[in-house]
Amino acid sequence: MSYRPADIRYDAMTYQRCGKSGVKLPAISLGLWHNFGGVDRFSNSRAMVRRAFDLGITHFDLANDYGPPPGSAEKTFGRILRRDLAPHRDELIISTKAGWPMWPGPYGNWGSRKYLIASLDQSLRRMELDYVDIFYHHRPDPETPLAETMGALDHAVRSGRALYAGISAYTPEQTSEAARLLRSLGTPCLIHQPKYSMLNRGIERGLLALLREQGIGCIAFSPLAQGLLTDRYLSGIPADSRAAKPHGFLKREEVTADVLARVRRLTECARARGQTLAQMALAWVLRHPEVTAVLVGASRPQHIADAVAALTHRSFASDELRTIDQILA
Ligand SMILES: NC(=O)c1ccc[n+]([C@@H]2O[C@H](COP(=O)([O-])OP(=O)(O)OC[C@H]3O[C@@H](n4cnc5c(N)ncnc54)[C@H](OP(=O)(O)O)[C@@H]3O)[C@@H](O)[C@H]2O)c1
Repeated sequence: MSYRPADIRYDAMTYQRCGKSGVKLPAISLGLWHNFGGVDRFSNSRAMVRRAFDLGITHFDLANDYGPPPGSAEKTFGRILRRDLAPHRDELIISTKAGWPMWPGPYGNWGSRKYLIASLDQSLRRMELDYVDIFYHHRPDPETPLAETMGALDHAVRSGRALYAGISAYTPEQTSEAARLLRSLGTPCLIHQPKYSMLNRGIERGLLALLREQGIGCIAFSPLAQGLLTDRYLSGIPADSRAAKPHGFLKREEVTADVLARVRRLTECARARGQTLAQMALAWVLRHPEVTAVLVGASRPQHIADAVAALTHRSFASDELRTIDQILA
């Protein structure tokens, strides 16, 4: 049956400006790292993308290697685009990345111009797109000169393959130098994609301040710590959860008694605010004005609706923040 998106899809979502750029992103954006691969049920992946778009989520984040197998999430997304969203391409911000191993030999990994441009061309073919909105370098490369990697991002934009350039997992020092190089080339760095959640607070030590200074947007990935900051693991490891899957990046060993004890206490705080822990965890990441959006994952459409509902209660009283800090200390 043909899909008709909800007419009210733009009514409830908040769109936040990405740094000092002209583009706004939905405060809740959807990542396709898990649950959109060739091993996953297409009908469920499609239902999640439809639910997201119906709720005003206009930004979908991919990478060359998302799957498994690598590349298959882009193929799945391309299929969904063709079937459901083709008339809405101009309403979408689609991102992809290159930086992790993708094909054998010396040109299928890291940050050379050779790898980045070939990988982006492959991504465009898999999604059957003329261009992506954002192309990221996925992780710093200790060997390739940064000027070459940033030159490749600039070339991706100038050649029309991408509209904006971004970086992911760069330290503050690397970010500062990457932003300087991109500026000098005339393609400003639109956005940084770092890991950030209640269980991973590294970006509070310098990166956020730098992004503010430089007018670069920030989209926080794994804001639910891959599902740990939800009720998913409170009664064991469910068979259909990420930690139980052989290809899941969350490992059983990471579901520790210490994490679960903190999660239980955080759940109490969330309850007192009238939210689920997942919703409080997203609101907590979004409390920084520098954070443009949270990049959530999901395994079912309801997860996406739950995430969007977090936007109805985003503010924190100072004693709530203090209690959360104590639990996380
Ligand atoms: N740049 C990078 O290096 C990088 C690295 C990692 C991720 N990312 C991006 O960030 C995106 C999100 O990462 P992530 O998937 O780790 O995000 P996440 O939001 O921290 O975790 C998502 C997982 O949490 C669980 N979940 C979500 N909502 C829930 C709810 N309401 N109740 C119970 N469980 C819930 C689901 O686990 P189950 O599947 O177990 O149900 C879901 O798959 C990725 O798709 C990708 O686009 C980027």
